[in-house]
Amino acid sequence: MAFAYVAFFLLVICIFKPASSQQNNSTLIGLRSSISTNIHPTSWRSPSGTFAFGFYPQGSGFIVGIWLVCKPADIITWTAFRDDPPVPSNTTLELTGNGKLLLRTYYANNGAGEEKLVANIERSASNARMFDSGNLVLYNEHSDVIWESFKFPTDTLLGGQNLSEGGELISSASTTNSSTGRFHLKMQIDGNLVSYPIDTIDTSVDAYWNTATFDSSVTNLYLNYTGGLLILSNDSNITVFSSDSKSESRAIIYRATLEYDGIFRLYSHNFDSNGAYTTSLMHYAPKNQCEVKSFCGLNSYCTMNDNQPYCSCLPGTVFVNPNQRNKGCKRTILKNYVKVAEETSSYRTTADMEKNELG
Ligand SMILES: *[C@@H]1O[C@H](CO)[C@@H](O)[C@H](O)[C@H]1NC(C)=O
Ligand SMILES: *[C@@H]1O[C@H](CO)[C@@H](O)[C@H](O)[C@H]1NC(C)=O
Ligand SMILES: *[C@@H]1O[C@H](CO)[C@@H](O)[C@H](O)[C@H]1NC(C)=O
Ligand SMILES: *[C@@H]1O[C@H](CO)[C@@H](O)[C@H](O)[C@H]1NC(C)=O
Ligand SMILES: *[C@@H]1O[C@H](CO)[C@@H](O)[C@H](O)[C@H]1NC(C)=O
Ligand SMILES: *[C@@H]1O[C@H](CO)[C@@H](O)[C@H](O)[C@H]1NC(C)=O
Ligand SMILES: *[C@@H]1O[C@H](CO)[C@@H](O)[C@H](O)[C@H]1NC(C)=O
Ligand SMILES: *[C@@H]1O[C@H](CO)[C@@H](O)[C@H](O)[C@H]1NC(C)=O
Repeated sequence: MAFAYVAFFLLVICIFKPASSQQNNSTLIGLRSSISTNIHPTSWRSPSGTFAFGFYPQGSGFIVGIWLVCKPADIITWTAFRDDPPVPSNTTLELTGNGKLLLRTYYANNGAGEEKLVANIERSASNARMFDSGNLVLYNEHSDVIWESFKFPTDTLLGGQNLSEGGELISSASTTNSSTGRFHLKMQIDGNLVSYPIDTIDTSVDAYWNTATFDSSVTNLYLNYTGGLLILSNDSNITVFSSDSKSESRAIIYRATLEYDGIFRLYSHNFDSNGAYTTSLMHYAPKNQCEVKSFCGLNSYCTMNDNQPYCSCLPGTVFVNPNQRNKGCKRTILKNYVKVAEETSSYRTTADMEKNELG
């Protein structure tokens, strides 16, 4: 009984020591340090263990990214090469002797190798640091920052992170696939923060949510350490999502993510002294899933039913994938006589039918 209890408890704790951590505390990654998909540890942890940078299992291989460490479900906050296929095992990540953060894959079958730079910069690093804020930073020999993951957000902003004027967050394909998804959120140079489906030309008719804030002296969108989301400008700051929290707490991580469904959500992850955590949804926009334009895909429409979005096909169309109803609908290409055949449980193809008609 005691054993069962302990096992259950381990499932819900995070490797986190809030009392001794600070968001500006970091783990040093020196030159010639490396990790590999084949040998544990497969990541570099921040000092408190809150965040990890390294190889994360996805699909049939691994992606390179940063995640908030929590069992049973880690939360990926940044991804490198998000639209490349996952790397296979036998891949290493090294801060090389000449200061490059290099991903190297070996293929046993043909002896070939592939190399990619995670931080795509000319300059050489003297070291790197993984911070308790979730930021991965590369420094030169003068301890100047030459690259940081916070400057290249994918779908998420963490406390202390900015999205610069003109920058965007792009949603992931799904909760288990970090590739480019179907929506983006832009911090426009006109001062407006706007959500659009990805395959539009981003005019106001394409938009499905915006802050209606216009200030051409905007500098960036900033998620502060107390969970307030602000549009910063030279003249004044506009609060997009407010926070009641007044003091910085080392035990709370704030995270704003444009999620795969097109909704922008701000969460807080609160850690207690035992290292357990609770996640709270603090703000989200838009409020109704059906307001997300093209959420249901082509040739379809969205209705809310019991607070759940429900996608339906326009007349004369059927789901592209009946198991993923938000992937849109396609015209029925089968003619009426084929429908009749289907009803009599015939498995003949359209080609068969045509052959029969001709013959
Ligand atoms: C920073 O992290 C180290 C390693 O976990 C820890 O020993 C130290 O107390 C931390 N420092 C602060 C100021 O939290
Ligand atoms: C880390 O932050 C704390 C308070 O936020 C500050 O007192 C301390 O000087 C900072 N340390 C470093 C190394 O920046
Ligand atoms: C992830 O999503 C992308 C884009 O939709 C797709 O091309 C890719 O096949 C997906 N990967 C997996 C493993 O499903
Ligand atoms: C991994 O790479 C080594 C060479 O570094 C090679 O000998 C081995 O066969 C590779 N294994 C796989 C599974 O590709
Ligand atoms: C984000 O912007 C704020 C306000 O301009 C600034 O204090 C902070 O240093 C910036 N953070 C990063 C990581 O650039
Ligand atoms: C904001 O002010 C800074 C310093 O005064 C200036 O360099 C910058 O160009 C201004 N930005 C905008 C967008 O007006
Ligand atoms: C806007 O917010 C930033 C970051 O919190 C702060 O440094 C700056 O003083 C604020 N500006 C104004 C005009 O309130
Ligand atoms: C963070 O932003 C919120 C906006 O709701 C503001 O009330 C709060 O004072 C800010 N915190 C800091 C530390 O600037």
